Amino acid sequence: MLNKNILIGVTGGIAAYKVVEVASRLKKMGANVRVMMTRNATEFVSPRTFREITDNAVSVEMFGDAANFHVAHIGLATFADLILIAPATANFIAKAAHGLADDLLTTTIVASDKPLMIVPAMNTKMFDNPATQENLKILKSRGAMILEPASGELACGTVGKGRLPEPEDICAVVEKFFTSKKLSGKKILVTAGGTVEAIDPVRYIGNRSSGRMGYEIARAAVNEGAEVILISGKSELPAPQNLKFVKVESATEMRETVLKEFDSVDAVIMSAAVADYRVKNPAVQKIKKSAETLTLELVKNPDILRELGTLKKSQVLVGFAAETQNVLQYAEKKLVEKNLDFIVANDVTAEGAGFNVPTNIASIIWRNGNVENFAKMDKSKLAEKITDRVAELFKARS
Ligand code: C5P
Repeated sequence: MLNKNILIGVTGGIAAYKVVEVASRLKKMGANVRVMMTRNATEFVSPRTFREITDNAVSVEMFGDAANFHVAHIGLATFADLILIAPATANFIAKAAHGLADDLLTTTIVASDKPLMIVPAMNTKMFDNPATQENLKILKSRGAMILEPASGELACGTVGKGRLPEPEDICAVVEKFFTSKKLSGKKILVTAGGTVEAIDPVRYIGNRSSGRMGYEIARAAVNEGAEVILISGKSELPAPQNLKFVKVESATEMRETVLKEFDSVDAVIMSAAVADYRVKNPAVQKIKKSAETLTLELVKNPDILRELGTLKKSQVLVGFAAETQNVLQYAEKKLVEKNLDFIVANDVTAEGAGFNVPTNIASIIWRNGNVENFAKMDKSKLAEKITDRVAELFKARS
C-alpha cells in the first residue's frame, strides 16, 4: 500500500462517519489519501475532519475562486490509483451509472478511467429497489468493483441489508486490490461471443452465445493486473474497461485477429462460440424469396484453438466445451486433441448454465485427468476461478 494514491469519494449518507476510520486506516497503511465529498456528505462529517485525518486538502466545490482557476476534477482523477466511493448512496449510484456530472465528485468519476470501488450503504428497500440494482449492474458491467453491504441494524431503525461494511473489512478489500495481483506482467488474450457467418448482406448464421462468460473472464484478468486483449464476436454487452477491445464478425476474422496477437501473449482463453461452418459463397446481394426451398452449402471453419494448440510454445491454452450430452467425455477429447492446458466444460441445457444466463455450472478438466466440479455460480465468480487456475499454471512454470 506504500505510496498508493487512493481517492475517497464520500457521498451523503450517515455511514460517512465510518469512512473517517477508513481514511485513517488507509493512511496508516502507507497510502496517500485524498478525499472529495458531496455537499450532502458535509452535513454528516465536516471536511475538516478528513482534512486532519488525511493531511490533505478536501475537495467539495466544483467552482472555487475564479481568480485561481484550476481544473480540480481532472487533477483528482489523475492522482488516483484507485477511487473508493464510501458510502455510496442510491443517488450517487444512479448518477454514476448514467454518467451524470453535476458536482465535483460525479464529474471526477466521469473524467476518470481509474479503477473504481463502490461501497453502497443505504436502507434495505433503497438497496433492493430495482432501479438501484440495475444501476449497480451497469456499473459492474463497466468494470466497477462493488462491495456487498453488510446486514444488521440500520440508522433508520430497521434491520436488514444496507450497512456499510466495517472499516477494517473495506480496508482489507482495498489492500487485496493492490497486493494480490496474480496476473501482473502477464498478457492474456480472451475471446468471447458468437461468430457471425454471412449468408448475404443482411442475413447470417449465428448462435446463442451472449459473450458474458468471456467478458467476465477478461474483467477478472484485468482485476488481477493482466494486460488483456478481448476479441469479441457478437455480443450486446458493453466493452469492459482497461483492456484492448477488438470486435470481429466471422470465424475467419477472429482467427486472423487471434493469430496476429498469439506470439505476444502468455495465455489464450478461448470462450468464444466459434461457428463450426460458414456459408461457402455468401451472396453479394440480398437473396430474394422465390423457390420453395433454399440450400446453403456450408464449409468447415478453421478450428482456431486447434491451430493454436499446434503453434503453442509456452502459452497457456484454455478452451471451453459447451455440450448438450456426454459433457465430460467430449470435453476430455477436445482437451487432448486441441493440446490445451485445461478445458472448462458445461452442459448448456442445464438450468442456470450456458447461454444468456448470468450463472454457469461448469467443470474444469486437467491434463492429468483431474476434474474440478463447481456448483452453480455467477459467471463473474467462475471467471475468477478460471483466471486463478491460469495464474497457478504461470506460478508452477516460473
Ligand atoms: O470443438 P468445439 O467447437 O466444441 O470446441 C470448443 C472450443 O474450441 C472453444 O474453446 C472454442 O472457442 C474453440 N473453437 C475454435 N474454433 C472453432 C471452434 C471452436 O477455436 N472453429
